[in-house]
Amino acid sequence: MGIKLEYLMQPANRWTFKQPKLKTYIESWCKGNILNLFAGKTKLNVNEFRVDLSNEFKPDHLGNAFDFINETKLKFDTIILDPPYSIRKSREKYNGKYIGKLTKIKNEIVSRNILNSNGIIISLGYSSVGMSKSRGFKKIGICLVCHSGDHNDTIVVIEEKIQTIIEKNIIKKNTKKIENKVQNYWNKKYKR
Ligand SMILES: C[S@@+](CC[C@H](N)C(=O)[O-])C[C@H]1O[C@@H](n2cnc3c(N)ncnc32)[C@H](O)[C@@H]1O
Repeated sequence: MGIKLEYLMQPANRWTFKQPKLKTYIESWCKGNILNLFAGKTKLNVNEFRVDLSNEFKPDHLGNAFDFINETKLKFDTIILDPPYSIRKSREKYNGKYIGKLTKIKNEIVSRNILNSNGIIISLGYSSVGMSKSRGFKKIGICLVCHSGDHNDTIVVIEEKIQTIIEKNIIKKNTKKIENKVQNYWNKKYKR
């Protein structure tokens, strides 16, 4: 399967999922237990756990997204990353609440292994980098949202977790073990 492309036209809204077509698009990719890391105002029609630095909309966890990933014992099937897209935007629209560069948070998601196998990460922003292959992800969907006028487009990247090298090696090792056991069984049975 290649990358599924979508193009949506929606008037801009600082609460991203107040844009109905975009909200429906995001919900269509969500599966299982969802972690909505920069949850903001808009609730999705999915089984979501909401994290935000602001208490205004009563998130399930009030605090910094990075600290949450670092401390949580929960595991998820989908993670949504919809942070303020620039420091300017964070000052203008989210009372200066900001996460900074996303590299740190992406690495933490991988090293804390909070996403189940074949899980999905949905990233929104001004770039299509996402989690990328280097972190063990493959792109399965891209959506450009045109807000017309002088607005930047919103870029949505959908990525699926593929097996990490470590996981692959474990499977390989276990397969070898099973093959050896079967071989021993037949060797004994036929006294080879
Ligand atoms: C783009 S808005 C999210 C909008 C949301 N998806 C919606 O549709 O309502 C970004 C949100 O990230 C929150 N935020 C900013 N920095 C954060 C951080 N370090 N940790 C957690 N939340 C943060 C802001 O308070 C804001 O609610």
